[in-house]
Amino acid sequence: MNEIKILDKTFVPFIAEEEIKHAIKRMANTLYEEYKDETPVFVGVLSGVIIFFSEFLKNYKGRCEIAFLQLSSYKGTESTGEISTKLNITGDLTGRHVVILEDIIDTGNTLEALYKMLETKPAKSIKVATLFFKPDVFKKDLNIDLIGMNIPNKFVVGYGLDYDGLGRNYPDLYQLKEN
Ligand code: IMP
Ligand code: MG
Repeated sequence: MNEIKILDKTFVPFIAEEEIKHAIKRMANTLYEEYKDETPVFVGVLSGVIIFFSEFLKNYKGRCEIAFLQLSSYKGTESTGEISTKLNITGDLTGRHVVILEDIIDTGNTLEALYKMLETKPAKSIKVATLFFKPDVFKKDLNIDLIGMNIPNKFVVGYGLDYDGLGRNYPDLYQLKEN
C-alpha cells in the first residue's frame, strides 16, 4: 500500500482491507448470536456505510431485512455539528428489532440525531453497531452496543469513508498524513 493524494491532502496506509473484514465477521457473528431467533432490520447510515454494510450482510448467517437512511454533518475533515436528514428511513420499523449500522462514530453528533429520529419510531428494540470508533473524541452519554475497531483521533478515508466526497472506493483504510 502506498500514500494517496485526494485534493489538497495526503493519506498514508492505516488498516488493510483483510483486517477490516475480520472485524466485520466478528460483528456479524456477535449479532447473529443475539438475533438468531428474530428477524432484525439492519439500517445502514448512508453513504459511508456502503462497503461495511455489504460485507456485513455477506457474513450475517441469519434471517434479516435491510433499510437505509442518510444524514450528513461533515465538511472537509471537520464535523460541523449540524446534522441534516438527506434521506428518511426507507422502511417501517414499527415493532421491529432494529440495528443501526454506522461506518464511524466520531463526536457522536450524528448518533445523537439518530437516536432522536428513532424515538419517534415505535421499534421493539434499537441497537447501534459501528465499524470504526474514535474513543478520544466521543463526548456523548449515548449507548453504542457494538464496535468493530477503535481508532485514534485522525481523519481517515477509504473503505466507504470520504474526504469531500472522494476516496470512498479505496478498499483499504488510510489516515491523514501529519505535516
Ligand atoms: P460524528 O457525528 O462526529 O460522530 O461523525 C459521524 C459521521 O461523520 C460519520 O458517519 C462519517 O460519515 C463522518 N466521519 C467522522 N469521522 C470521519 C473520518 O475520519 N473520515 C471520514 N468521515 C468521517
Ligand atoms: Mg456516516
